[in-house]
Amino acid sequence: MSKRLMGAWERPFCGSLRAADIGRRVELVGWVRRRRNLGGIVFVDVRDREGWAQVLLRDELREAGEKLSQEDVIRVIGTVAARATETVNPEMPTGEIEVLAEEVEILTAAETPPFVVEDRVNASEELRLRYRYLDLRRPEMMAAVVLRDRITFAIREYFHDKGFVEVETPILTRSTPEGARDFLVPSRMSRGTFYALPQSPQLFKQLLQVAGLGRYVQIARCFRDEALRAERQLEFTQVDIEASFVEEEDIYALIEGLFAKIFPIVGIEPPTRFPRLSWPDATERFGSDKPDMRFGMELVELGEVAKECGLEILRSAAATGRVKGLVVPGGASFSRKQLDELSEFVKPFGAPGVLWLRKTAEGYGSPAKKALGDAGIARFLAAGSVGEGDLLVVVGGAPKVVFAALGALRVELARRMGLIAEGNHAFLWVTDFPLFEWDDETKRFYSVNHPFTSPRAEDVPLLETDPGAVRARAYDVVMDGVELGGGSIRIHDPGLQRRAFAVLGIDEAQAKHRFGFLLDAFRYGAPPHGGLALGLDRLVMLMAGRDSIRDVIAFPKTTAGNCLLTEAPNTVDETQLKELGLRVNGAVSGLQGVRDDGSIV
Ligand code: AMO
Repeated sequence: MSKRLMGAWERPFCGSLRAADIGRRVELVGWVRRRRNLGGIVFVDVRDREGWAQVLLRDELREAGEKLSQEDVIRVIGTVAARATETVNPEMPTGEIEVLAEEVEILTAAETPPFVVEDRVNASEELRLRYRYLDLRRPEMMAAVVLRDRITFAIREYFHDKGFVEVETPILTRSTPEGARDFLVPSRMSRGTFYALPQSPQLFKQLLQVAGLGRYVQIARCFRDEALRAERQLEFTQVDIEASFVEEEDIYALIEGLFAKIFPIVGIEPPTRFPRLSWPDATERFGSDKPDMRFGMELVELGEVAKECGLEILRSAAATGRVKGLVVPGGASFSRKQLDELSEFVKPFGAPGVLWLRKTAEGYGSPAKKALGDAGIARFLAAGSVGEGDLLVVVGGAPKVVFAALGALRVELARRMGLIAEGNHAFLWVTDFPLFEWDDETKRFYSVNHPFTSPRAEDVPLLETDPGAVRARAYDVVMDGVELGGGSIRIHDPGLQRRAFAVLGIDEAQAKHRFGFLLDAFRYGAPPHGGLALGLDRLVMLMAGRDSIRDVIAFPKTTAGNCLLTEAPNTVDETQLKELGLRVNGAVSGLQGVRDDGSIV
């Protein structure tokens, strides 16, 4: 093979060649996507990060062409030519051109891959994660990797232009109280002590405000040893921000401005200002603190009707908890099976099932028809303004259960019934969260956000008398029913911080032990400050139109925390443990987070 035709940085990407390149002599490098023999010519699709181009090997190159196998790494020198009109492929970005090769060289031969590297892949996600480097060769996966870079680059540019400074905060740190379990790292030099990986840079970004930085941003890796849940990873990335002398409105404007800059990258134009919904309204109307506002189907109040109805179970639910419902347009035609599925759907939320009621041309229908009577059913339907042909789904019980069950059912039914129009997006601020939440099991208050969130000034007197009624200066930004980020205006007064700790049962000694350094810092002039963190993985997922955050993370873990590629976490040598002064008790459990069919939990 001849010498290089062009330097690495001048060489075009195979996938970037266009009609404008016709006549250009180029050097291409890439992977063999496909090879076909047709009428004495070998056609090879050469793939790289940007896509692929069709290369023609004719005459004396045919023999070399026939030796090429899928995923071989090759180098080609040739000339870009126009395709004959009948072979132009308008579906393909490079469909107007082909490359007539003069030389071809195999740089590395590849073994047959465990699955064909194509977007229409039929390999299980387990196999794809095991061979992630092959999975990433698939154009749609690589496109997500590239898009993520474009987005983070634009984010950095936006904040930089606004006077923010990126600061790296420690990864080996002291545990911060974000509510999840910490990942611990044993210290070799100070035996018996541990670092914690940061759940977020929360305390450091606040300390940077005390230091006078004023505007902080960081694309920060965070670690949380949390229970298995979809759309969460044990390690994930935040766009973490904090600023001094700011109020809620400043943060809203900052994030709305950011979205106005980054969403057009994927052709989405968010509104200049996002609607706002208070937490109590979000819960009452949508059964969720991150409502999907792309469709209506609001919950309806049925407490009054339930109190007087002929069904004891609903009467008692109305007396001790809540009774609410959902009106499903056209749902009166649901089959028995579909109706039974509604009850199955709400069970994981702690509800015993649903009661359904409907009016069709034939009359009223419900499994509780006997107990309620036609008049009773009519009262329920009237309370929910249910029309003929619609279905009323009723859930009663403890408020949390009712809201969670109906909130989730609302989204599920909207999806099933196609109520969410393609390309429609809904951005939203959720505000007025409570500062504390009471837990019946442990009989104490917990922070809804974190203990540094400021109460609303007018609610401060309630800290000692009615903590449950204190509203937080906290906010979440929500898109299409996904919580993209959250933050708050913080407490900067040590006295107020002490009072908030007291509600949480954290006394002076504990406070000093856990956050002494922050409380100390606040003694030396802390500016009023606040901030927010966006989940970058979720943001990119929504922007890329993907269903899973794993699709926008180059090397993700299963939800159970296994990296199938490297097989982390793994056992370590006895000597390593010894050095750390550690001993493992109990058996090592096997691989988690993979179902029998190879799909990922
Ligand atoms: P919070 O805990 O709400 O706030 O996190 C902010 C955002 O981070 C994303 N996120 C996650 N993404 C993927 N996997 C996870 N396990 C995960 N956990 C959270 C979400 C979430 O909205 N320090 C505060 C922020 C602040 O007050 O400034 C914090 O961490 O999108």
